[in-house]
Amino acid sequence: MNKYNFVAPCLMGVEKLLSDELKYIGAENVKAENGRVFFDGDDSIFARANIRSRFAERILLLTGRFIAKSFDELFCEVKKIPWENFIPENGKFPVAGSCLSSALRSVSDCQSIIKKAIVERLKTVYHHDYFQETGAVFKIRFLLLKDEACIMIDTSGEPLHKRGYRANSNDAPLKETLAAVLVDLSRVHYDDTVIDPCCGSGTILIEAAQKALRIPPNSKRKFVSEDWHFPDKKIWSDEKILAENEIRINTVFHGYGYDIDENALAVAQQNAEKAGVAEYLTFSKRDIADFSENFDSAVIICNPPYGERLLDLNSAETIYRIMGEKFYRRQGWRYTIISPEDDFEKFFGRRADKRRKLYNGMIRCQVYQYFK
Ligand SMILES: C[S@@+](CC[C@H](N)C(=O)[O-])C[C@H]1O[C@@H](n2cnc3c(N)ncnc32)[C@H](O)[C@@H]1O
Repeated sequence: MNKYNFVAPCLMGVEKLLSDELKYIGAENVKAENGRVFFDGDDSIFARANIRSRFAERILLLTGRFIAKSFDELFCEVKKIPWENFIPENGKFPVAGSCLSSALRSVSDCQSIIKKAIVERLKTVYHHDYFQETGAVFKIRFLLLKDEACIMIDTSGEPLHKRGYRANSNDAPLKETLAAVLVDLSRVHYDDTVIDPCCGSGTILIEAAQKALRIPPNSKRKFVSEDWHFPDKKIWSDEKILAENEIRINTVFHGYGYDIDENALAVAQQNAEKAGVAEYLTFSKRDIADFSENFDSAVIICNPPYGERLLDLNSAETIYRIMGEKFYRRQGWRYTIISPEDDFEKFFGRRADKRRKLYNGMIRCQVYQYFK
């Protein structure tokens, strides 16, 4: 088995959850930093992290991490990396990345220096002056952050939040990874009833059903590194089978999604079918003002319309007030609401039992949880 260093970018605020998830699947030396988690693992972890992570945005192979304050330093350090261990003679290796708070500020210059350094390294091994780059794709990603360079190869291809079930989307869909975070924070179990009263395209309920049923988020999709000469192809098929063998056949979990927008509900239904969880979810039209349920216990997870995006602030406030009335303290019920509105608790009418900062794209939000 080969050993690798990896780094997985994630949404800000999700580092701890992702670290725990990676440890759970067997990753070693897991270390969280702002917006990313470093870890080590073998060929199985390579495939497993891609197939099973609900919170990572991508899985990147970390090939070098060093200080670079000049283009010369960047060139020399990148050339030292044994690229021939990763990129075959015909490999395609486009370079992309970003520079933040660093002496090297020009992304395009860093891009061409890194490309040149890799070419120079590979020339010494493959004895070519020119590389056709007609084979598998080894997308090189770099990040220069406070003069520290991380040089990586993308193993995922399409980002991991693209689970493949969201063919269609409504106006303001929640990223799948963020929906998975809300589900995890709400501690959804296989026997829970989960309700999303403003379900839009159904992302939260689909992620909840997948978690309750232990459906791996990405066992059905393809990863760019499946075309590489490593890890062995059998590792990928074995890991996909292992993950799918853990799926629960469950008739207890059920999710209910409501919305006032019929188009969004139709999209939610289609997405649930694509995700293979339609039989566990029921979508119907209902205004949150008419919310009423008689379950002994339930988990409500909600991403209500935002003042900034979907509604004017007054309408958003009205919805928050309605939620406060409908989501009253009730034995066996717990509520998780994500909102960018700083005064959310004021309109809702109660201080949350727990609060946590998260980013929904560029929007700073808080997750408000009521469970006492
Ligand atoms: C931020 S979006 C939810 C997006 C959803 N989480 C997803 O991933 O697609 C808010 C949703 O609330 C719905 N909505 C607005 N007013 C509502 C009301 N009074 N009752 C129920 N749903 C409402 C909108 O139609 C919209 O689909």
